[in-house]
Amino acid sequence: MKMTNVMLALAAGVCLAGAAETIALPKPTVDSGVTVLQALKDRHSCRSFSEQEISLETLSGVLWAANGYNRPDKRTNATGLNKQTIEIYACMKTGAYRYDAKANALVKVCDADLRNAVADHQPYAAKAPVSLLIVADVSDPVYSKKWNTLTHYDAGIVSGNIYIYCAANGLATVCRGSMDRDALRKALKLPETKVLHLNHPIGRPASK
Ligand SMILES: Cc1cc2nc3c(=O)[nH]c(=O)nc-3n(C[C@H](O)[C@H](O)[C@H](O)COP(=O)(O)O)c2cc1C
Repeated sequence: MKMTNVMLALAAGVCLAGAAETIALPKPTVDSGVTVLQALKDRHSCRSFSEQEISLETLSGVLWAANGYNRPDKRTNATGLNKQTIEIYACMKTGAYRYDAKANALVKVCDADLRNAVADHQPYAAKAPVSLLIVADVSDPVYSKKWNTLTHYDAGIVSGNIYIYCAANGLATVCRGSMDRDALRKALKLPETKVLHLNHPIGRPASK
C-alpha cells in the first residue's frame, strides 16, 4: 500500500503494542539514482521548510541512512568501539517516536508535539514536519573517562548520513546543536545517561 504522507500513515498504519503505539515503517527507499558524489556536491544546510508532510517511505529512508542496519549486526553509521549507542527520536505533529532500527518501526514515547522545543530560539526549525533528535546512551562505563567524548563524534557521523540522504532525495535539512534540552529531556523522560547531541529538522524545501 502506498502511503501518501505521514499523517495518513499514522491514521492507517498505527498498531497497538501493549500501551505504546508502534508504526511499522515501509522498506526504506535506497535507490534515488543520485550518486554519492552528486549528493556531496548538493549537500547544504537549508533553513526554509515547507510544512508539507513527508511520506512514511521517505522518513523510513532517512532513518535507515541515519542509523539503520546495513549488515545483520552493524549499521549505516560507524560508532567508536562499535558501541552502537546512538538512538534517533522523530518529533512530529502527532508525538515523538523512538526509531527501532531492528524492527524498522517507530515506537511512540510521547503524545506531545515537541517541534517547538526542538526549534528553541530558531522558529524556522519548527516548520519542518519532522525533527530528528540524535541521542547517545552513555550508560556504559567506558564513556566515563578516556572515551567521554566518543559519542559526540558518533552523532556527527549520523548527521553526515542524514545530510547525504536528504541531498540525494530532494529533502531540506540542517544539523542543529540548538534545542531546549531540559524540555525535551523532561517530555521524553530521558535519564541523565542519555545525551541530546544534535537535531535535524527534515522536510521539503519551501518554494521560493
Ligand atoms: C555541530 C553543528 C551544530 C550546528 N548547529 C546549528 C544550529 O543550532 N542552528 C543552525 O541554524 N545551524 C546549525 N548548524 C549548521 C551550520 O551553521 C552550517 O553547517 C554551516 O553554516 C555551513 O553551512 P552548510 O551546512 O550549508 O555547508 C550546525 C552545524 C553543526 C555541524
